[in-house]
Amino acid sequence: MQRIAMLGSGFIGRFYAESIHGQRGRDRVVAIYARREESAKKFADDYGCTFWSTDMEEVIAHPDVTMICVALPNNLHEAAVMLCVKHKKAVVSTKPLGRNGAEALRMMQAIEGAGIFGGYLEDLCYTPKFLKSKQMVDNGALGRILWAKSRETHPGPHSNWFWDKEQAGGGCILDLGCHCIEIARNFIGKDIKPVEVMCWAATQVKPIEAEDHAIALVKYENGAIGQFEVSWTFRGGMDLRDEVMGTEGTIWMNNFLRTGFEVFTTGKGGDYVAEKAESNTGWLFPVGDEVNELGYNHMFTDMFRSVEEGTEPSETFYDGYVVNAIIDAAYKSAKTKLWEPVDLPVWRGQEGLSPVSTLIEYDADYYLIKEEVTHDGRHKVILKDKKTNEIIERDL
Ligand SMILES: NC(=O)c1ccc[n+]([C@@H]2O[C@H](COP(=O)([O-])OP(=O)(O)OC[C@H]3O[C@@H](n4cnc5c(N)ncnc54)[C@H](O)[C@@H]3O)[C@@H](O)[C@H]2O)c1
Repeated sequence: MQRIAMLGSGFIGRFYAESIHGQRGRDRVVAIYARREESAKKFADDYGCTFWSTDMEEVIAHPDVTMICVALPNNLHEAAVMLCVKHKKAVVSTKPLGRNGAEALRMMQAIEGAGIFGGYLEDLCYTPKFLKSKQMVDNGALGRILWAKSRETHPGPHSNWFWDKEQAGGGCILDLGCHCIEIARNFIGKDIKPVEVMCWAATQVKPIEAEDHAIALVKYENGAIGQFEVSWTFRGGMDLRDEVMGTEGTIWMNNFLRTGFEVFTTGKGGDYVAEKAESNTGWLFPVGDEVNELGYNHMFTDMFRSVEEGTEPSETFYDGYVVNAIIDAAYKSAKTKLWEPVDLPVWRGQEGLSPVSTLIEYDADYYLIKEEVTHDGRHKVILKDKKTNEIIERDL
């Protein structure tokens, strides 16, 4: 059983607490740190915490607490993690791990140096649809992964600090791109090195310094390409979609807007529909069990099991650091309009891969390009001559 101290009583702190307490769950949030006394007290009342404080260190050091959960604005993640290191407390942190690669690297090295557990709370790599897809990809159902695209767009975050570049560390690339990058990395292979990023970013709508819309390509050393599309200007709720393409198959995932659950209401008894939903009348796309469908349950189960068994969770501080490094390159590229290298002072995966050839042997003389049955009943193959490079068709 874990006795958790939640740092932050806001939007995600509450989602996390709902998930941890779950349905008769044995792990408990026993302590809460919040900036304001009334928020800490309210959270403590709502979730039955025995201890609350507006002093972060006091909460982290509390002897009843076995694990710290960082659910604070981005600019406070590093300080919170360093206090966990000081008090040798296992820590799990929300995304993004840092505001940039340097912060994330310091956090990773500090917990590893102190020998304490660190988990990266990347919930979208734990949704039921993601877990099933990942298993199929790992079993080879899609062959070699060529392209993994992830999109997260919504009408923008709910608290003031997100819109302040200094506190947040960036705009929608950092806030949403971190999810998309880690989703694509999982499908392409976490041991495959991300090498270069090309990114377009703009502030199209909001009166802010940071970007509110961006699209980027992340090139991997084995020739695979990751893609992310992120926006704080999208209208119509929260759009969470992923696509994976491999030599043997394809996955399309819609995690939120169109999940096969559609409701019409005139608005009588209107209530909360789903995160970032913009309407509660007309045709609606609710989400059945948000905490589960967003991955929080599987994520905390992995974190708690790992800390108790002394193993690594699927998402670690190292993963958070790699994601931050890719984001740094995206920001650079958005400025220079060039492919920018990903700076990874620590890399633990494969090195020196080159794009893999996918030539399919047809016979001694030809490679197979394609086999097809056409509407006029022809069954044909398109072949490439190995010696002359001529491309021919042959009926079977
Ligand atoms: N799906 C996800 O994984 C997900 C979703 C939303 C937010 N987040 C992350 O969670 C973290 C917190 O985001 P949130 O949406 O809960 O924010 P929020 O504004 O709703 O809550 C932040 C909480 O931090 C505490 N706090 C302490 N010092 C503060 C300060 N100086 N300014 C503001 N708050 C302060 C307060 O208790 C506040 O309620 C961020 O890093 C964000 O990126 C993750």
